[in-house]
Amino acid sequence: MENKQLLEIAEQAKENAYVPYSNFHVGAALITKSGKVYTGCNIECASYGGTNCAERTAIFKAVSEGDKDIEAIAIASDNSSKNEITAPCGICRQVIAEFALDIKIILGYSKGDIKEFKIKDLLPHSFTGNDLI
Ligand code: THU
Repeated sequence: MENKQLLEIAEQAKENAYVPYSNFHVGAALITKSGKVYTGCNIECASYGGTNCAERTAIFKAVSEGDKDIEAIAIASDNSSKNEITAPCGICRQVIAEFALDIKIILGYSKGDIKEFKIKDLLPHSFTGNDLI
């Protein structure tokens, strides 16, 4: 699938964001190596630490369905239509890196500029499961 198309799906997913506190909508769409797509949005909580980011929602949906072979994840937010990227937060970078260091991170706007990174470039010198062997 094209990066633009995965971003469009992320843009749709952000419509379900539950954001009564920040009013900042984020959507994510990931695709597995077998071509299945999982979406996620941010879900906030009055006890703020209970908030889950869009990226982790999508990843937890995929992994809980037994799909760990993630190829790429696209992220969209309310800033996307202003042609500003929203990059994954530190916690999400760590969770993405858990599943492979070469996962593609697609950022931007489907009708504007699209950037592509590898998670290993967004989280250099990462701590991973290999450190525990
Ligand atoms: N948020 C995400 O969902 N993903 C990110 O990569 C950055 C931040 C959410 C968490 C919270 O609901 C809101 O954006 C403001 O931080």
